[in-house]
Amino acid sequence: MRCQWLCEYSLSTDDEERLEQFFGEIQRESNLFLGYPCNGIFDYSPLLKFLQYPINNVGDPYLPSNYHLNTHAFECEVLEIFQDLTQAPPGSTWGYITNGGTEGNHYGLFLARELMPDGIVYYSQDAHYSIDKVLRCLGLHSIMIRSQADGSMDLEDLRETLRIHRDVPAIVCATIGTTMKGAVDDIAGIQAIFRDLALKRHYLHADAALGGMILPFIDHPPPWNFAAGIDSIAISGHKMIGSPIPCGVVLAKKTHVDRIAQSVEYIGTLDTTLSGSRNGLTPLFLWYALHTIGVDGFKRIVPNCLHMADYAIAQLNGLERNAWRHPYSNIVVFDRPSPVVTQRWQLACNGTLTHLIAMPHVVKEQVDQLIADIQALEPQPESSISEIPVCETVLGGTNEEITLVGSAEDHLLTQVSTALASAGISIEDFTAVKAAGGSIIHMRVNDRERALQILNEHLDIGRCYGQSRPFSNEEATQILTQVNYHTVSQDALLVKLVDKPGALAELMKNVANMTLPFAVYVWFGADQGVP
Ligand SMILES: Cc1ncc(COP(=O)(O)O)c(C=O)c1O
Repeated sequence: MRCQWLCEYSLSTDDEERLEQFFGEIQRESNLFLGYPCNGIFDYSPLLKFLQYPINNVGDPYLPSNYHLNTHAFECEVLEIFQDLTQAPPGSTWGYITNGGTEGNHYGLFLARELMPDGIVYYSQDAHYSIDKVLRCLGLHSIMIRSQADGSMDLEDLRETLRIHRDVPAIVCATIGTTMKGAVDDIAGIQAIFRDLALKRHYLHADAALGGMILPFIDHPPPWNFAAGIDSIAISGHKMIGSPIPCGVVLAKKTHVDRIAQSVEYIGTLDTTLSGSRNGLTPLFLWYALHTIGVDGFKRIVPNCLHMADYAIAQLNGLERNAWRHPYSNIVVFDRPSPVVTQRWQLACNGTLTHLIAMPHVVKEQVDQLIADIQALEPQPESSISEIPVCETVLGGTNEEITLVGSAEDHLLTQVSTALASAGISIEDFTAVKAAGGSIIHMRVNDRERALQILNEHLDIGRCYGQSRPFSNEEATQILTQVNYHTVSQDALLVKLVDKPGALAELMKNVANMTLPFAVYVWFGADQGVP
């Protein structure tokens, strides 16, 4: 590409390669994307042509503006669909397309503060971390309410706290699908408390980042929307709908919004939104998705996500992982596995728990692979050594080598091989010396720098030696003695494996829990047969 002043817009070969490599990484990682609520399946390629214009939705989407390169008309159509989904009475709400759930929460609580500057915000322990940040930005007084074990707001604690502060306007920020456990706060119960305590001045914001695109599509959802008396709601667009650029929708009662509108001559419209310049492409994406998939499409997609969540629960509970979900949520909560697994599958953790989120891109094969990875790192029943094919060994290589020393409790071989397999790094030569007191691994990999990075990030390895050749048994014995481990036996087991990432991890699954009183030599060949 060339601009009118003849500047060349082209990349150097190195930069081109860097982008290609990065693209490969993104492709690889997207196959291992089970822990976050972002749908990875979408195709907005028919909209690519709009990328060549400085489209900007600055200003109020419902009003004309001097900046004509905007998608306000599409934005308003998207908002209309969300007004239907949230059961807003026609003409009663205003909104705009945000940068995501966080901005929607910011907007909702901003409105609340403008209406009730002396109010106190009540939100639960399980509310998203964005709420805490927004409250600090807005300088609002707040009180955190206890959560129940299932992740929902404890209404007894809310009632008691509101009772003590009856003289102050109450701003409740309810979560419609908590981040970790997918719980929906009891909106009807909160309204009942307002009534019981005769609290006249109150505001109810609903953070429905994920739940706002799930509850409209399931049978008998709990109360959650304008029909249940909320004042504003934030929903993420890049979560269930899916988008390469984060986005969301905020809707609020029009009567509240009118209080903060200000006219700005520079843009020739009302400044009703939080951001000035606003993304003009995301309204197009959402419009496109809602017009191609449609509400009927989501009525099929969402229940299927819940079925996939049930499949994951059944598989995880086969490993006694205490997996469960709320009936209205695609978030599967289960016992936190080892760091190698949570890193590989991008699983967000909280204390002893983690979760898998069955978004539309999640398939059974991925769930099965996750299960296999968890199994690989769990104690396995003892299997007979004679099942492993014994053959000759070929060791060698002079560069790209790494030597690791760990304790016997580390399951060092399993951890190393699984971590490298998950990063797509191939182990080309490998020697492991394992004794009752510790183990040494010497290996040659196809990408030493990345392998070291992965190992340092994911594993707590006692020591890393930079020697460029395998250790002899004497050296291994010496090192293990230095780090207080027992001596190593002279016996050896020779194993031949298929030369591909993950082959060693598979072997280690079988021998993970054995204390081998001898050295293991592994040869990676083109096939599995013994030569
Ligand atoms: C309940 C809840 N609220 C808000 C957010 C923030 O949304 P976003 O990442 O779109 O800003 C999230 C994100 O996961 C969430 O789960």
